[in-house]
Amino acid sequence: MVNGAQRVLVFDSGVGGLSVLDAIAASGRALELDYVADNAWLPYGLKSDAQLQQRVPALLTRLVEEWAPEAVVVACNTASTIALDPVRAALSVPVVGVVPPIKPAAALTRTGVIGLLATPATVQRAYTNDLIARFAGDKRIVRFGSAALVEAAERKLAGDDPGTAAITEAIDGLFGAPGGAEVDVVALACTHFPLLAAELAAAAPRSCVWMDSGEAIARRLTNVLTANEGQSRVRRVGFTNGDGARASVRAFERRGFSDFFHISDAPHFEVAPLAPTHTA
Ligand code: DGL
Repeated sequence: MVNGAQRVLVFDSGVGGLSVLDAIAASGRALELDYVADNAWLPYGLKSDAQLQQRVPALLTRLVEEWAPEAVVVACNTASTIALDPVRAALSVPVVGVVPPIKPAAALTRTGVIGLLATPATVQRAYTNDLIARFAGDKRIVRFGSAALVEAAERKLAGDDPGTAAITEAIDGLFGAPGGAEVDVVALACTHFPLLAAELAAAAPRSCVWMDSGEAIARRLTNVLTANEGQSRVRRVGFTNGDGARASVRAFERRGFSDFFHISDAPHFEVAPLAPTHTA
């Protein structure tokens, strides 16, 4: 640890958590940032609730033992909206989850119609419905669930063409749905989606506010920790699929990460340096 910096572990199924990590890194706190991508199980949006409730706490318990963070950020809406309680029960450090940005979207809409773009799991979760009932009960919500957008964001961050199919499908699904003509704020309730905000905005039929949770999570983390003002520093990344890591390593290197690890299968989740062939 350098200069009293506090260590934080950021978690997602893939590269989506980088949209949150970027906001944390910009928050001006002296933090050391580690990251774990459960890319062997990507996309989480197509996994069952029971699968995620079992796997996410088990994987994070192991990584917290290994890397001893002082806080964990579950930078994944799909995991947060179903597995936050078991994760908190399993860990002894504070856990910050991502909440679909329904409340700020409700505060901002002028038409009263909010678009909700999430994974197929998050878009219909009880957690999401509760948020809508609490904070946007008087608004109309137009929902669209997409796993293809998650894959498109993974491709983009690997340096490949994300393609237009997933973007077009999501835009049509939102703006072409009943009420869609009046959407003026879109809540991006998957951490992969802010990574495609430029593509989504360019494909949309008109200008909208594209709202994500990154800055709110960074603020929440600041409240949970006592970290001094300063610069954050990125450190280690663990991937559950070493071969799959090859493409995304570049996105992490661009942010300054240089230590890459492979995490073996459940139940042991052994952490070992990633073979150089995986990062070549
Ligand atoms: N990034 C994740 C989220 O915020 C999930 C992507 C996936 O389906 O794996 O929901």
